[in-house]
Amino acid sequence: MLRTHTCGELRIQNINETITLCGWVQGVRDKGALLWIDLRDRYGITQITVETDKTSGEIIDLARSLGREYVVKVTGIVSERYSKTDKIATGDVEIIPQSIEILNRSLTPPFTIEDETDGGDELRMKYRYLDLRRTEVRNKLQLRHQVAKATRNFLDAQDFIEVETPVLIKSTPEGARDFVVPSRMNEGQFYALPQSPQTFKQLLMVAGFDRYYQIVKCFRDEDLRADRQPEFTQIDCEMSFIEQEDILNMFEGLVKHLFEKVKGIKIDKLPRMTYHEAMESYGCDKPDTRFGMKFNYLKGNGVDLVGGKNFGVFDAAEAVIAINAKGCFNYTRKQLDELTEWVKDPKRGMGGLIYFRCENGSFKSSADKFYSTEDLQKWALACDATEGDLVLVLSGVKEKAQKAMGDLRLLMGERMGLRDKNKFSPLWVVDFPLLEFNEEDGRYYAMHHPFTSPKPEDIVLLESDPGAVRANAYDMVINGVEVGGGSIRIFNKELQSRMFDLLGFTKEEAQNQFGFLMNAFEYGAPPHGGLAFGFDRLCSLFGGSESIRDYIAFPKNNSGRDVMIDAPSVIESKQMKELGLK
Ligand code: AMO
Repeated sequence: MLRTHTCGELRIQNINETITLCGWVQGVRDKGALLWIDLRDRYGITQITVETDKTSGEIIDLARSLGREYVVKVTGIVSERYSKTDKIATGDVEIIPQSIEILNRSLTPPFTIEDETDGGDELRMKYRYLDLRRTEVRNKLQLRHQVAKATRNFLDAQDFIEVETPVLIKSTPEGARDFVVPSRMNEGQFYALPQSPQTFKQLLMVAGFDRYYQIVKCFRDEDLRADRQPEFTQIDCEMSFIEQEDILNMFEGLVKHLFEKVKGIKIDKLPRMTYHEAMESYGCDKPDTRFGMKFNYLKGNGVDLVGGKNFGVFDAAEAVIAINAKGCFNYTRKQLDELTEWVKDPKRGMGGLIYFRCENGSFKSSADKFYSTEDLQKWALACDATEGDLVLVLSGVKEKAQKAMGDLRLLMGERMGLRDKNKFSPLWVVDFPLLEFNEEDGRYYAMHHPFTSPKPEDIVLLESDPGAVRANAYDMVINGVEVGGGSIRIFNKELQSRMFDLLGFTKEEAQNQFGFLMNAFEYGAPPHGGLAFGFDRLCSLFGGSESIRDYIAFPKNNSGRDVMIDAPSVIESKQMKELGLK
């Protein structure tokens, strides 16, 4: 070892010991009589103090020649500091150097490598290896390591075995586009990178592995957002001879274990909410349940508190939905106009926003022309609105209004400080529809994936009313983030082939793409099911961040580029020819 200690290790008990440290020069402060070097490594920072009147000229010259990020080795005596600091763990001591050796020089880094850096996003991504030297960034990857370790411990104790599945495979339909890799030896043919190891884990169940997991890279060529990367990691799991209840209990156990080990937080039994309830009360299938502000229907779901008053907009609407922003009566006209513009944005597509406030014992509404105090009293009752509240109302086609109101609810929750990142509200969303209809191409798609089993009691509806069939599918949602999802699988060849029919596959297409799985189902497939957690999402949630990028050592930017290695990039025409691409 080049060193006796790390830069985060020395304490008052080490006084008078001769030690050697190695690390990077975080900074040098030269006050003439005294010169300080902050030496940093992964473990912390230690101060080296050069008293110029007591130190050899050679050491002083060396110390003065040091630049930021030089790699140095310092041998010296641990000494008690005059002015101690509790800002760093080694703040009680300093090192009086006996020798300083420069192990390597460094160019001046393009941004400061400190907690508060002056580097912008793109610059830090380009020099990610320097950004990773920053404590804050490194801590995030350390957290990731903790989550992976605790996951392995838990699953190992439950008899799961980790099996690696291939990365060069045939396309798996998880709903996104595949990344493909041309095959040199099979000209004109392509591998696909797995969107998930879905079919392989099912084959492992046919193989009798019983309990499988893998912390595994998945690849999806889809539009990127803060919580999506083209290359991300799943905790992928599958179990045999189980029912949905067993899966929910097992992985609720895993998540509780992770919260306890990584965050020191005890989590109660996870509540369950049906997909239907989530859409009706929160307007999305991943509700943020850290706060209430549930939907109230002024019209729709068998209620009509708005009709017959000559307000054309509400009369024409399929649904009129209200949320109660408690205590927000003092929202200004300007703020309300801004909210109105926000809901009118083409992304949400609402015609406008109606509101009323409960102020000084009366109601003030933006639809006063049409509605009397008695009408508004009824609305207030439906929304549990009392003195000081502001009620926001959207109307239109039900699904669209629900979605827009879901977004508005989140925005208001944010503004009202109800989305505390230190509070965790996990739940299961269950009973997803099996299929969703795509208006554009006039056909059904699997909502989860085509291997998901319908609820046995809904199988009769498969032909007559496919859209009404519910699946044995579930998502785990925490703070409005879908952290995991899975399903009980079809394990019977006939039902699987009926599913492919429904999804518009011809017999040949189904055989061609999934023949291997259907054939395997003829050799004694056990009942099985599983789920996958988005590992990066879990980590960012634990770390209190919206973006998963920070929790990935070398992430891609929003255009799917790695700006550090400059990928993707063009390849030589020789290589193209070899691959049969030109
Ligand atoms: P699903 O497609 O729901 O299910 O993915 C499981 C979880 O993976 C995470 N995730 C992502 N994270 C980051 N970037 C992405 N682009 C991305 N896409 C998905 C989400 C999601 O909940 N094979 C099934 C699982 C199963 O049925 O067992 C599957 O992949 O957190």
